[in-house]
Amino acid sequence: MTKKISIAIDGPASAGKSTVAKLLAKKLNYVYVDTGAMYRVITYATLKNNINPSDEKAIVKLLETIEIGFQSNDDAPQTVLMNGEDVTEVIREDLVTNNVSQVSAHEQVRKILVARQQEIGRNGGVVMDGRDIGTAVMPNAELKIFLVASVEERAERRYKENLAKGMDVDFEKLKQEIADRDHKDMTRDVSPLIQAEDAKLIDTTGMSIEKVVNTIESYLVI
Ligand code: CDP
Ligand code: CDP
Repeated sequence: MTKKISIAIDGPASAGKSTVAKLLAKKLNYVYVDTGAMYRVITYATLKNNINPSDEKAIVKLLETIEIGFQSNDDAPQTVLMNGEDVTEVIREDLVTNNVSQVSAHEQVRKILVARQQEIGRNGGVVMDGRDIGTAVMPNAELKIFLVASVEERAERRYKENLAKGMDVDFEKLKQEIADRDHKDMTRDVSPLIQAEDAKLIDTTGMSIEKVVNTIESYLVI
């Protein structure tokens, strides 16, 4: 039997991490772990419980009562569960997106979620995507990828995604929000978004999803 390795995919917002990670996991018959969804769930719960996103202590207490689950669906997006409730759609809403970087900057929040992510990835056979996977969650991952793309193209990808959902959002506003979130994620004190030294950098500007997946597969030496 070939050894099941761990694959870490990091990068800024809309670089294509989840799309590519999910396809790769399917091809390899690995488990796909969307760590961003975990930070989004706790952010959603924080707002729902009227907790201030700056209140680390209250968020940590809340997190202890929250179980986060994933359900794979063949072609549709993965279902995200919060204590059994389907929160797949609500965790992508603007209010959550605009507060998630603040919630995920808390050291104790990260400590709890990183431990849960490490538990899921313990036996390998995972493709995990996020911001600190190659640097903090799975520093020993056999393959680390850092996906980037110009902010213009990333905003365009998000814009098209919104249009497909029937939402016509302002392009410049979207671009600014993406740039702001990247800045917060890259400048926080605890595990900021940074390329791991041993990660392979792929600039996906102008690259199709298929080409990105094929490039990553070419790095696989199993
Ligand atoms: O899909 P998108 O790029 O919009 O973001 P995401 O992967 O859903 O992550 C949402 C937010 O969670 C990020 O902007 C980070 O603030 C945080 N995050 C993190 O801090 N560490 C991770 N490993 C994953 C996400
Ligand atoms: O997870 P992350 O925020 O990094 O990005 P994503 O949600 O996987 O991708 C954002 C959007 O860009 C999706 O609609 C993808 O279909 C699209 N995409 C693309 O057009 N070309 C790529 N090379 C990668 C993603």
